[in-house]
Amino acid sequence: MAESPSPAGFRTGASASSDPERPGFGSIQLAVVIPTLNERENVGPMFAGLDKALAGIAWEAIFVDDDSPDGTAVAVRELGQRDPRARILQRVGRRGLSSACIEGILSTAAPFVAVSDGDMQHDETVLPRMLALAQTGRFDIVIGSRNIEGGSMGDFAANRVWLSNMGSRISNFVCKCRVSDPMSGYFLVTQEFFQSVARRLTGTGFKILVDLLASAERPVRVAEVPYHFRARRMGVSKLEVNVELEYLFLLVDKFAGGVIPTRFVVFVLVGSLGFVLHMAVLAALHFESRASFAAAQTIATFTAMTFNFLLNNAVTFRDRQLRGWRMLHGLLVFYAACSLGALVNVSFADFLLKAGLAWYLAGICGLAITSVWNYAVNTVLTWRRDRPV
Ligand code: GDD
Ligand code: MN
Repeated sequence: MAESPSPAGFRTGASASSDPERPGFGSIQLAVVIPTLNERENVGPMFAGLDKALAGIAWEAIFVDDDSPDGTAVAVRELGQRDPRARILQRVGRRGLSSACIEGILSTAAPFVAVSDGDMQHDETVLPRMLALAQTGRFDIVIGSRNIEGGSMGDFAANRVWLSNMGSRISNFVCKCRVSDPMSGYFLVTQEFFQSVARRLTGTGFKILVDLLASAERPVRVAEVPYHFRARRMGVSKLEVNVELEYLFLLVDKFAGGVIPTRFVVFVLVGSLGFVLHMAVLAALHFESRASFAAAQTIATFTAMTFNFLLNNAVTFRDRQLRGWRMLHGLLVFYAACSLGALVNVSFADFLLKAGLAWYLAGICGLAITSVWNYAVNTVLTWRRDRPV
Protein backbone atom coordinates (compact mmCIF):
# COMPACT_ATOMS: atom_id res chain seq x y z
CA MET A 1 0.00 0.00 0.00
CA ALA A 2 1.31 3.44 -0.95
CA GLU A 3 1.88 5.73 1.96
CA SER A 4 2.21 9.46 1.93
CA PRO A 5 4.55 10.89 4.51
CA SER A 6 2.90 13.38 6.87
CA PRO A 7 4.17 16.98 6.94
CA ALA A 8 6.68 16.08 9.60
CA GLY A 9 7.92 13.17 7.55
CA PHE A 10 6.45 10.31 9.57
CA ARG A 11 4.83 7.45 7.75
CA THR A 12 1.34 7.17 9.06
CA GLY A 13 -0.19 4.64 6.70
CA ALA A 14 -2.60 2.04 8.00
CA SER A 15 -0.38 -0.96 7.47
CA ALA A 16 3.27 -1.82 7.74
CA SER A 17 4.88 -1.62 4.35
CA SER A 18 7.68 -4.02 3.62
CA ASP A 19 10.22 -3.68 0.89
CA PRO A 20 10.12 -6.77 -1.37
CA GLU A 21 13.74 -6.10 -2.40
CA ARG A 22 14.94 -6.25 1.18
CA PRO A 23 12.99 -8.93 3.02
CA GLY A 24 12.68 -8.30 6.72
CA PHE A 25 13.00 -4.55 6.40
CA GLY A 26 9.40 -3.56 7.06
CA SER A 27 8.74 -0.13 8.43
CA ILE A 28 7.92 -0.18 12.08
CA GLN A 29 4.43 1.07 12.86
CA LEU A 30 4.20 0.83 16.60
CA ALA A 31 6.75 1.08 19.37
CA VAL A 32 5.73 0.09 22.88
CA VAL A 33 7.81 1.94 25.45
CA ILE A 34 7.98 0.09 28.73
CA PRO A 35 9.66 1.84 31.67
CA THR A 36 11.07 -0.68 34.12
CA LEU A 37 12.49 -0.67 37.59
CA ASN A 38 13.05 -4.16 39.00
CA GLU A 39 10.67 -5.95 36.68
CA ARG A 40 12.91 -8.84 35.64
CA GLU A 41 10.25 -11.48 36.20
CA ASN A 42 7.74 -9.53 34.14
CA VAL A 43 9.87 -8.96 31.03
CA GLY A 44 9.21 -12.33 29.35
CA PRO A 45 5.46 -12.49 29.98
CA MET A 46 5.11 -8.83 28.97
CA PHE A 47 6.82 -9.45 25.64
CA ALA A 48 4.85 -12.63 25.02
CA GLY A 49 1.61 -10.77 25.76
CA LEU A 50 2.51 -8.07 23.23
CA ASP A 51 3.52 -10.65 20.64
CA LYS A 52 0.12 -12.28 20.91
CA ALA A 53 -1.88 -9.05 20.99
CA LEU A 54 -0.03 -7.34 18.14
CA ALA A 55 -0.07 -10.17 15.60
CA GLY A 56 0.00 -8.70 12.08
CA ILE A 57 1.42 -5.35 13.20
CA ALA A 58 5.06 -4.31 12.71
CA TRP A 59 6.05 -3.43 16.25
CA GLU A 60 8.95 -3.23 18.66
CA ALA A 61 9.21 -3.03 22.44
CA ILE A 62 11.61 -0.61 24.07
CA PHE A 63 12.34 -1.39 27.68
CA VAL A 64 13.72 1.73 29.36
CA ASP A 65 15.44 0.41 32.45
CA ASP A 66 17.03 2.54 35.15
CA ASP A 67 19.80 0.05 35.85
CA SER A 68 17.57 -2.15 38.00
CA PRO A 69 19.59 -4.15 40.52
CA ASP A 70 17.48 -7.24 39.79
CA GLY A 71 19.00 -7.40 36.30
CA THR A 72 15.96 -6.41 34.26
CA ALA A 73 18.26 -5.13 31.51
CA VAL A 74 20.04 -8.48 31.32
CA ALA A 75 16.71 -10.21 30.83
CA VAL A 76 15.78 -7.80 28.03
CA ARG A 77 19.14 -8.33 26.29
CA GLU A 78 18.69 -12.10 26.44
CA LEU A 79 15.29 -11.63 24.87
CA GLY A 80 16.74 -9.26 22.25
CA GLN A 81 19.25 -11.92 21.22
CA ARG A 82 16.36 -14.15 20.26
CA ASP A 83 14.01 -11.49 18.93
CA PRO A 84 15.30 -8.10 17.70
CA ARG A 85 11.93 -6.51 18.40
CA ALA A 86 12.97 -6.46 22.07
CA ARG A 87 15.14 -3.41 22.58
CA ILE A 88 16.81 -2.08 25.68
CA LEU A 89 17.58 1.47 26.69
CA GLN A 90 19.55 1.18 29.90
CA ARG A 91 20.05 4.39 31.87
CA VAL A 92 22.83 4.48 34.42
CA GLY A 93 22.75 6.89 37.35
CA ARG A 94 19.32 8.12 36.35
CA ARG A 95 15.84 7.73 37.78
CA GLY A 96 12.34 8.74 36.89
CA LEU A 97 9.33 7.27 35.18
CA SER A 98 8.48 10.33 33.07
CA SER A 99 11.96 10.91 31.76
CA ALA A 100 12.27 7.20 31.00
CA CYS A 101 9.11 7.35 28.87
CA ILE A 102 10.28 10.50 27.11
CA GLU A 103 13.65 9.06 26.20
CA GLY A 104 12.06 5.80 25.09
CA ILE A 105 9.69 7.64 22.76
CA LEU A 106 12.56 9.70 21.37
CA SER A 107 14.57 6.57 20.64
CA THR A 108 12.28 5.05 18.03
CA ALA A 109 11.50 5.58 14.36
CA ALA A 110 7.92 4.38 14.79
CA PRO A 111 5.20 6.90 13.91
CA PHE A 112 3.04 5.63 16.76
CA VAL A 113 4.30 5.01 20.25
CA ALA A 114 2.45 3.40 23.13
CA VAL A 115 3.58 3.71 26.73
CA SER A 116 2.75 0.86 29.07
CA ASP A 117 3.74 -0.21 32.56
CA GLY A 118 5.96 -3.28 32.62
CA ASP A 119 4.00 -5.23 35.22
CA MET A 120 1.06 -6.34 33.05
CA GLN A 121 -1.41 -4.04 34.79
CA HIS A 122 -2.19 -2.45 31.43
CA ASP A 123 -4.27 -4.68 29.20
CA GLU A 124 -2.21 -5.09 26.02
CA THR A 125 -5.14 -6.57 24.07
CA VAL A 126 -6.63 -3.09 23.55
CA LEU A 127 -3.45 -1.85 21.79
CA PRO A 128 -4.63 -2.70 18.24
CA ARG A 129 -7.77 -0.64 18.88
CA MET A 130 -5.71 2.26 20.18
CA LEU A 131 -3.42 2.05 17.16
CA ALA A 132 -6.31 1.88 14.69
CA LEU A 133 -7.83 5.03 16.21
CA ALA A 134 -4.53 6.90 15.99
CA GLN A 135 -4.02 5.76 12.41
CA THR A 136 -7.21 7.53 11.34
CA GLY A 137 -5.16 10.72 11.73
CA ARG A 138 -7.90 12.27 13.84
CA PHE A 139 -6.15 11.97 17.19
CA ASP A 140 -2.88 13.04 18.78
CA ILE A 141 -3.22 10.77 21.81
CA VAL A 142 -5.31 7.70 22.47
CA ILE A 143 -5.66 7.06 26.19
CA GLY A 144 -6.39 3.77 27.87
CA SER A 145 -9.02 4.76 30.40
CA ARG A 146 -10.24 3.01 33.52
CA ASN A 147 -12.98 5.57 34.08
CA ILE A 148 -15.27 5.17 31.12
CA GLU A 149 -17.89 2.58 30.22
CA GLY A 150 -16.13 -0.73 29.72
CA GLY A 151 -13.13 0.12 31.89
CA SER A 152 -12.40 -0.24 35.60
CA MET A 153 -9.84 0.23 38.32
CA GLY A 154 -9.94 -3.52 38.97
CA ASP A 155 -8.80 -4.42 42.47
CA PHE A 156 -6.89 -1.18 42.95
CA ALA A 157 -6.75 -0.30 46.67
CA ALA A 158 -9.39 2.23 47.74
CA ASN A 159 -6.83 4.84 48.80
CA ARG A 160 -5.10 4.59 45.42
CA VAL A 161 -8.43 5.05 43.62
CA TRP A 162 -9.05 8.12 45.76
CA LEU A 163 -5.58 9.52 45.03
CA SER A 164 -6.01 8.89 41.35
CA ASN A 165 -9.38 10.67 41.32
CA MET A 166 -7.99 13.66 43.24
CA GLY A 167 -5.06 13.90 40.85
CA SER A 168 -7.45 13.77 37.88
CA ARG A 169 -9.54 16.62 39.21
CA ILE A 170 -6.51 18.82 39.85
CA SER A 171 -5.06 18.06 36.44
CA ASN A 172 -8.10 19.63 34.75
CA PHE A 173 -6.66 23.01 35.65
CA VAL A 174 -3.53 22.55 33.60
CA CYS A 175 -4.60 20.22 30.78
CA LYS A 176 -5.75 21.65 27.50
CA CYS A 177 -8.62 19.20 27.28
CA ARG A 178 -10.95 17.08 29.37
CA VAL A 179 -10.06 13.46 29.78
CA SER A 180 -11.55 10.86 32.09
CA ASP A 181 -8.28 9.28 33.25
CA PRO A 182 -5.33 11.70 33.03
CA MET A 183 -3.51 9.66 35.71
CA SER A 184 -3.39 6.72 33.35
CA GLY A 185 0.11 5.52 32.58
CA TYR A 186 -1.30 3.80 29.49
CA PHE A 187 -1.60 5.72 26.24
CA LEU A 188 -0.55 5.89 22.62
CA VAL A 189 0.82 9.06 21.08
CA THR A 190 1.74 10.00 17.53
CA GLN A 191 5.43 10.77 17.09
CA GLU A 192 4.38 13.91 15.25
CA PHE A 193 2.46 15.30 18.22
CA PHE A 194 5.15 14.20 20.63
CA GLN A 195 7.80 16.06 18.66
CA SER A 196 5.70 19.21 18.83
CA VAL A 197 5.69 19.22 22.65
CA ALA A 198 8.95 17.41 23.46
CA ARG A 199 10.91 20.55 24.25
CA ARG A 200 8.30 21.87 26.64
CA LEU A 201 7.92 18.76 28.79
CA THR A 202 8.73 18.99 32.47
CA GLY A 203 9.82 15.38 32.61
CA THR A 204 9.70 14.88 36.37
CA GLY A 205 7.59 12.45 38.32
CA PHE A 206 5.14 9.79 37.27
CA LYS A 207 2.58 11.80 35.37
CA ILE A 208 3.87 11.85 31.84
CA LEU A 209 0.37 12.00 30.36
CA VAL A 210 -0.59 15.16 32.28
CA ASP A 211 2.74 16.62 31.23
CA LEU A 212 1.94 15.90 27.56
CA LEU A 213 -1.59 17.26 27.76
CA ALA A 214 -0.50 20.41 29.58
CA SER A 215 2.46 21.15 27.33
CA ALA A 216 0.56 21.43 24.04
CA GLU A 217 0.01 24.84 22.57
CA ARG A 218 -3.25 23.90 20.92
CA PRO A 219 -6.15 21.75 22.17
CA VAL A 220 -5.08 18.13 22.08
CA ARG A 221 -7.15 15.72 20.00
CA VAL A 222 -7.80 12.86 22.38
CA ALA A 223 -9.59 9.54 22.07
CA GLU A 224 -10.20 7.16 24.95
CA VAL A 225 -10.38 3.39 24.94
CA PRO A 226 -11.63 1.56 28.03
CA TYR A 227 -9.66 -1.17 29.75
CA HIS A 228 -9.68 -3.05 33.02
CA PHE A 229 -6.72 -2.27 35.24
CA ARG A 230 -5.21 -5.60 36.21
CA ALA A 231 -3.37 -6.61 39.34
CA ARG A 232 0.43 -6.37 39.16
CA ARG A 233 1.89 -9.69 37.99
CA MET A 234 5.10 -9.81 40.06
CA GLY A 235 7.10 -7.44 42.23
CA VAL A 236 5.93 -4.28 43.97
CA SER A 237 4.68 -0.81 43.05
CA LYS A 238 7.26 1.97 42.95
CA LEU A 239 4.71 4.69 43.53
CA GLU A 240 5.52 6.21 46.89
CA VAL A 241 4.74 9.42 48.74
CA ASN A 242 7.37 11.34 46.82
CA VAL A 243 5.49 10.62 43.61
CA GLU A 244 2.68 12.82 44.86
CA LEU A 245 5.25 15.51 45.63
CA GLU A 246 6.65 15.23 42.14
CA TYR A 247 3.13 15.67 40.84
CA LEU A 248 2.91 18.90 42.87
CA PHE A 249 6.13 20.07 41.23
CA LEU A 250 4.76 19.29 37.79
CA LEU A 251 1.56 21.26 38.46
CA VAL A 252 3.47 24.25 39.84
CA ASP A 253 5.71 24.17 36.80
CA LYS A 254 2.76 24.17 34.44
CA PHE A 255 1.02 26.97 36.38
CA ALA A 256 4.08 29.18 36.66
CA GLY A 257 4.56 28.67 32.93
CA GLY A 258 8.25 28.07 33.31
CA VAL A 259 8.77 31.77 34.09
CA ILE A 260 9.48 31.39 37.80
CA PRO A 261 11.64 28.48 38.91
CA THR A 262 9.38 25.74 40.28
CA ARG A 263 11.57 25.23 43.30
CA PHE A 264 11.28 28.89 44.22
CA VAL A 265 7.47 28.77 44.02
CA VAL A 266 7.44 25.73 46.31
CA PHE A 267 9.89 27.48 48.67
CA VAL A 268 7.56 30.49 48.91
CA LEU A 269 4.55 28.20 49.46
CA VAL A 270 6.41 26.53 52.33
CA GLY A 271 7.32 29.97 53.69
CA SER A 272 3.65 31.02 53.64
CA LEU A 273 2.74 27.95 55.67
CA GLY A 274 5.51 28.89 58.10
CA PHE A 275 4.01 32.35 58.42
CA VAL A 276 0.60 30.88 59.29
CA LEU A 277 2.22 28.59 61.86
CA HIS A 278 4.17 31.50 63.31
CA MET A 279 1.00 33.53 63.86
CA ALA A 280 -0.84 30.55 65.35
CA VAL A 281 1.95 29.81 67.86
CA LEU A 282 2.30 33.48 68.71
CA ALA A 283 -1.44 33.86 69.33
CA ALA A 284 -1.60 30.67 71.39
CA LEU A 285 1.33 31.65 73.62
CA HIS A 286 0.17 35.23 73.90
CA PHE A 287 -3.38 34.46 74.94
CA GLU A 288 -3.02 31.11 76.66
CA SER A 289 0.07 31.63 78.79
CA ARG A 290 1.76 34.35 80.74
CA ALA A 291 4.82 34.33 78.54
CA SER A 292 6.11 37.77 77.64
CA PHE A 293 5.51 38.93 74.11
CA ALA A 294 9.22 38.81 73.31
CA ALA A 295 9.43 35.21 74.54
CA ALA A 296 6.31 34.24 72.60
CA GLN A 297 7.64 35.87 69.43
CA THR A 298 11.01 34.12 69.81
CA ILE A 299 9.41 30.70 70.28
CA ALA A 300 7.05 31.33 67.34
CA THR A 301 9.97 32.39 65.14
CA PHE A 302 12.03 29.29 65.89
CA THR A 303 9.02 27.00 65.55
CA ALA A 304 8.24 28.47 62.13
CA MET A 305 11.89 28.36 61.01
CA THR A 306 12.30 24.74 62.13
CA PHE A 307 9.04 23.79 60.44
CA ASN A 308 10.13 25.52 57.25
CA PHE A 309 13.49 23.79 57.34
CA LEU A 310 11.93 20.35 57.76
CA LEU A 311 9.36 20.92 55.03
CA ASN A 312 11.91 22.35 52.63
CA ASN A 313 14.17 19.42 53.36
CA ALA A 314 11.34 16.97 52.71
CA VAL A 315 9.73 18.67 49.72
CA THR A 316 11.47 21.65 48.13
CA PHE A 317 14.95 20.14 48.22
CA ARG A 318 13.93 16.51 48.34
CA ASP A 319 16.49 15.63 45.68
CA ARG A 320 19.25 17.02 47.90
CA GLN A 321 17.72 15.87 51.20
CA LEU A 322 19.94 16.16 54.27
CA ARG A 323 19.97 13.35 56.80
CA GLY A 324 21.55 12.68 60.18
CA TRP A 325 24.33 15.06 61.20
CA ARG A 326 24.18 16.89 57.90
CA MET A 327 20.60 17.72 58.72
CA LEU A 328 21.53 19.29 62.06
CA HIS A 329 24.29 21.26 60.40
CA GLY A 330 21.84 22.34 57.70
CA LEU A 331 19.33 23.48 60.29
CA LEU A 332 21.90 25.76 61.93
CA VAL A 333 22.92 27.22 58.57
CA PHE A 334 19.24 27.71 57.77
CA TYR A 335 18.67 29.59 61.06
CA ALA A 336 21.63 31.84 60.31
CA ALA A 337 20.64 32.50 56.70
CA CYS A 338 17.05 33.31 57.64
CA SER A 339 18.11 35.59 60.51
CA LEU A 340 20.29 37.53 58.10
CA GLY A 341 17.36 37.52 55.69
CA ALA A 342 15.18 39.12 58.34
CA LEU A 343 17.80 41.81 58.84
CA VAL A 344 17.92 42.48 55.11
CA ASN A 345 14.13 42.61 55.12
CA VAL A 346 13.88 45.18 57.89
CA SER A 347 16.65 47.45 56.65
CA PHE A 348 15.41 47.37 53.05
CA ALA A 349 11.77 48.08 54.03
CA ASP A 350 12.94 50.85 56.32
CA PHE A 351 15.00 52.37 53.52
CA LEU A 352 11.99 52.30 51.14
CA LEU A 353 9.72 53.85 53.74
CA LYS A 354 12.15 56.68 54.28
CA ALA A 355 12.37 57.11 50.50
CA GLY A 356 8.65 57.85 50.52
CA LEU A 357 7.01 54.48 49.76
CA ALA A 358 3.70 53.63 51.50
CA TRP A 359 4.18 51.44 54.60
CA TYR A 360 2.44 48.40 53.14
CA LEU A 361 4.40 48.56 49.88
CA ALA A 362 7.62 48.90 51.83
CA GLY A 363 6.55 45.86 53.89
CA ILE A 364 5.77 43.78 50.80
CA CYS A 365 9.06 44.71 49.12
CA GLY A 366 10.92 43.75 52.29
CA LEU A 367 9.20 40.37 52.31
CA ALA A 368 9.88 39.83 48.60
CA ILE A 369 13.58 40.56 48.91
CA THR A 370 13.83 38.24 51.93
CA SER A 371 12.14 35.42 50.01
CA VAL A 372 14.66 35.74 47.21
CA TRP A 373 17.53 36.10 49.69
CA ASN A 374 16.49 33.10 51.76
CA TYR A 375 15.98 31.02 48.66
CA ALA A 376 19.29 31.97 47.08
CA VAL A 377 21.40 31.63 50.20
CA ASN A 378 19.82 28.37 51.30
CA THR A 379 20.14 26.88 47.83
CA VAL A 380 23.82 27.64 47.82
CA LEU A 381 24.70 26.97 51.48
CA THR A 382 22.16 24.70 53.12
CA TRP A 383 21.14 22.39 50.29
CA ARG A 384 24.19 22.79 48.12
CA ARG A 385 24.65 20.35 45.32
CA ASP A 386 28.00 18.89 46.26
CA ARG A 387 27.53 15.35 45.06
CA PRO A 388 26.18 14.06 41.80
CA VAL A 389 22.52 13.09 41.97
N1 GDD B 1 12.68 3.41 34.16
C1 GDD B 1 11.95 3.59 35.25
N2 GDD B 1 12.35 4.50 36.19
N3 GDD B 1 10.81 2.90 35.42
C2 GDD B 1 10.09 3.11 36.53
C3 GDD B 1 10.46 4.02 37.54
C4 GDD B 1 11.67 4.75 37.34
O1 GDD B 1 12.09 5.57 38.16
N4 GDD B 1 9.52 3.97 38.53
C5 GDD B 1 8.61 3.08 38.13
N5 GDD B 1 8.95 2.53 36.95
C6 GDD B 1 8.22 1.54 36.14
C7 GDD B 1 7.80 0.29 36.89
O2 GDD B 1 8.76 -0.72 36.83
C8 GDD B 1 6.53 -0.09 36.13
O3 GDD B 1 6.82 -0.82 34.98
C9 GDD B 1 5.94 1.24 35.73
O4 GDD B 1 7.02 2.17 35.74
C10 GDD B 1 4.82 1.72 36.67
O5 GDD B 1 5.29 1.69 38.01
P1 GDD B 1 4.45 1.00 39.17
O6 GDD B 1 5.30 1.01 40.37
O7 GDD B 1 3.90 -0.30 38.72
O8 GDD B 1 3.29 2.07 39.33
P2 GDD B 1 1.82 1.86 39.87
O9 GDD B 1 1.22 0.62 39.32
O10 GDD B 1 1.82 2.03 41.34
O11 GDD B 1 1.09 3.13 39.21
C11 GDD B 1 0.50 3.02 37.96
O12 GDD B 1 -0.79 3.49 38.02
C12 GDD B 1 -0.93 4.88 38.20
C13 GDD B 1 -2.39 5.23 38.10
O13 GDD B 1 -3.02 5.30 39.28
C14 GDD B 1 1.31 3.77 36.91
O14 GDD B 1 0.78 3.47 35.64
C15 GDD B 1 1.21 5.25 37.06
O15 GDD B 1 1.83 5.87 35.95
C16 GDD B 1 -0.22 5.62 37.12
O16 GDD B 1 -0.32 7.01 37.35
MN1 MN C 1 2.02 -0.96 38.37
